Amino acid sequence: MHRFCEQNPGCLDMTGKVALVTGSSRGIGRAIAIKLAQAGADVTINYLRNRQKAEETAAAIEAEGARALIVRANVAKEEEVAAMFDEIKQKFGRLDILVSNAASGILKSVMDLNLRYWRWTLDINAGCLIPLSQGAVKLMGDRGGSIIAVSSIGALRAIPNYAVVGASKAALESLVRHMAAELAPQKIRINAISAGIVETDALTHFPTGDELIAESKKRTPIGRLTEPEDVANTVLFLCSDLSEMIIGQTVVVDGGYAIMA
Ligand SMILES: NC(=O)c1ccc[n+]([C@@H]2O[C@H](COP(=O)([O-])OP(=O)(O)OC[C@H]3O[C@@H](n4cnc5c(N)ncnc54)[C@H](OP(=O)(O)O)[C@@H]3O)[C@@H](O)[C@H]2O)c1
Repeated sequence: MHRFCEQNPGCLDMTGKVALVTGSSRGIGRAIAIKLAQAGADVTINYLRNRQKAEETAAAIEAEGARALIVRANVAKEEEVAAMFDEIKQKFGRLDILVSNAASGILKSVMDLNLRYWRWTLDINAGCLIPLSQGAVKLMGDRGGSIIAVSSIGALRAIPNYAVVGASKAALESLVRHMAAELAPQKIRINAISAGIVETDALTHFPTGDELIAESKKRTPIGRLTEPEDVANTVLFLCSDLSEMIIGQTVVVDGGYAIMA
């Protein structure tokens, strides 16, 4: 065994821990849920509509030898989030890791937007972090834990038709900083991951999805798109003691895309 691993036994080992990954029936959330199970954690899979896909993720988690719980809940509905935590408490009795990954939103030009679209998108993509974290912190108790929110470059840069989603991600990153400062004394570490373009179902809803993918491939210094696995690896690091001093940050996982002029 390498000396580092001998001196830091179990540094990425999540055995005995319990995670909740919102929106883990598909895409990036699924990869995160499976990665945490591979590291030893039991995982709650949350979804909104796609039960079949949630069951496939659960099967993949159980194949890793971990326990899985599937909960349908709209993360924008406080009462559904509260009921989800009741189920987690009943099944596992604790929580150590919350990954707020589920997202949706209205992709339209600014002239076609309205406040209903705004509220809907902000509630699902940013506001949800409030009831999710409140539920998580109660189940984390005195042990503390790790909360990670998944964001995107649209929080900082203008992308066609992305105005409300981008604004929701900016709000999310700001919430992460405020909540991280408030909860760090309770040993709750909160960070965000800003992912580059990842080819998931989400991209099929973009009016200019193909152009975004082509442009991203061309501009990314490492020469490939971000994979769900890249985001999942960073989640694992941010849940581990190796990242103990990282608090309230947005970690960019994009192969260098965002640094390009
Ligand atoms: N794809 C990208 O290029 C990219 C880039 C940067 C950041 N991100 C971020 O990464 C995260 C995951 O994106 P993705 O591309 O993997 O998305 P995706 O493939 O569209 O999957 C979305 C997931 O969220 C769930 N979901 C949607 N609305 C929900 C709600 N109101 N309550 C609970 N669950 C809900 C879906 O459940 P059902 O299966 O039941 O519908 C599904 O599991 C998002 O935060 C996204 O903004 C994505």
